[in-house]
Amino acid sequence: MEKLISKYFVGGESFGLDAYEKDGGYGAARLIFDKFDAKGLIEEVKKSNLRGLGGAGFPTGMKWSFVPQNTGKPVYLVVNADEGEPGTFKDKYILWHVPHLLIEGMIIAAYANNVHKAYVYIRGEYTEPYRKFQQAVDDAYARGYLGKNIFGKKYDLEIVVHRGAGAYICGEETGLLESLEGKKGFPRLKPPFPAVVGLFGCPTVINNVETLSYLPFIINRGAEWFAKLGSEKNGGMRLFCVSGHVKKPGVYELPLGISLRKMIYEIAGGIREDRKLKAVVPGGLSAAILSAGEIDIGMDFDQLKAAGSMAGSGGVIVLDETVSMVEALMVTMRFYAHESCGQCSPCREGTGWVYKILSRITGGHGRSEDIHNLADICSFMGGTTICALADGAAMPLRSYPQKFRSEFEAYIREKRSSEAQQPGYESAGSEIKRGEGVGAIL
Ligand SMILES: Cc1cc2nc3c(=O)[nH]c(=O)nc-3n(C[C@H](O)[C@H](O)[C@H](O)COP(=O)(O)O)c2cc1C
Repeated sequence: MEKLISKYFVGGESFGLDAYEKDGGYGAARLIFDKFDAKGLIEEVKKSNLRGLGGAGFPTGMKWSFVPQNTGKPVYLVVNADEGEPGTFKDKYILWHVPHLLIEGMIIAAYANNVHKAYVYIRGEYTEPYRKFQQAVDDAYARGYLGKNIFGKKYDLEIVVHRGAGAYICGEETGLLESLEGKKGFPRLKPPFPAVVGLFGCPTVINNVETLSYLPFIINRGAEWFAKLGSEKNGGMRLFCVSGHVKKPGVYELPLGISLRKMIYEIAGGIREDRKLKAVVPGGLSAAILSAGEIDIGMDFDQLKAAGSMAGSGGVIVLDETVSMVEALMVTMRFYAHESCGQCSPCREGTGWVYKILSRITGGHGRSEDIHNLADICSFMGGTTICALADGAAMPLRSYPQKFRSEFEAYIREKRSSEAQQPGYESAGSEIKRGEGVGAIL
């Protein structure tokens, strides 16, 4: 299978400016100025069916077409490099291995949206990827690819690199904008959407690192070619981050729409120690879980949505039969309770309550009404808040007990507890060592 972005993921190599140019790098950025006007470029990206790869899967070209021009205000481009969704670790590969690819994608997006100042918001913990990216920005300035009259054309583009401070909520686009403006990362009510009122009150395009990194390929090889690589209305490939209990975890670049079964059993080598598959989180922790019987599905935005889950950020977490789904949910909800920004009561209180209930259950003190209570709390968490963090928490909260109800019931009835599932514990009559499961990966 042909590799696009991931052809640059070679061992410990980071492609500097010379190496990138030797491979044809910045060819697309040079080409756009002669081949397209801004509108024509947006049409080309629309034709490619490129979807936003940060989580929501919104069609990229369409998003750009919402940006009002001639408002008298500047239009900004903001790159979301916060990569906070658990199970997702692809953007750091791009920042580290091939930072110039992102810069080239940014030049293309900037030109399409008449942007002259762009910001990159990088996850605080990504120290080395940040250094590599900042070096690449400095090198691009030095060679005249950023700054005034880039590539000798009448076009200016500045890039500012900004480091986050480790909050999941600052990956949410409006929380990110607040943080970039120097405030607490509290998400904003939408509408107005950032395309219309974004950074410093100006129209703003926000895209994920990977989304923008596909643009040079689309320009070089054509929108139709890119669209055909994927499935209907889901153009191209994406970087799937496969983790958990597979034999070969890693970042795999595969066409959108690829079968999940194929991804797990052929590409990622199958389940470790040839155990049984139990469940899969198909698109980052906030995606509804799929049971082992649901893996004959195409991994694209539309097919996963139709199955009640989501393609999200491309984080595929594979769980084998050793995992306790009750404990997995407890660990998952601990994350959301910790990361809720606290602005909206359903999210602030809801995530805290469910985490407390799940902690009680996994402490061996579950009550028979707990499963009902979890579902009840879940029913007011989704769709009632400023941002989608609570919706993201509601997806696992609803789907784990729905798909593994008997396991939740047995856990409570038998008063099991997670202390009994520390490494080294063997459940009576079973070959399966407890504690190797979810704690090791979440
Ligand atoms: C709680 C929350 C966290 C998010 N974290 C990220 C993130 O770390 N990186 C990202 O690209 N998008 C993240 N998103 C999605 C962004 O809000 C936004 O949709 C995305 O950056 C748009 O870029 P795209 O269209 O290229 O995907 C998050 C959304 C939510 C609700």
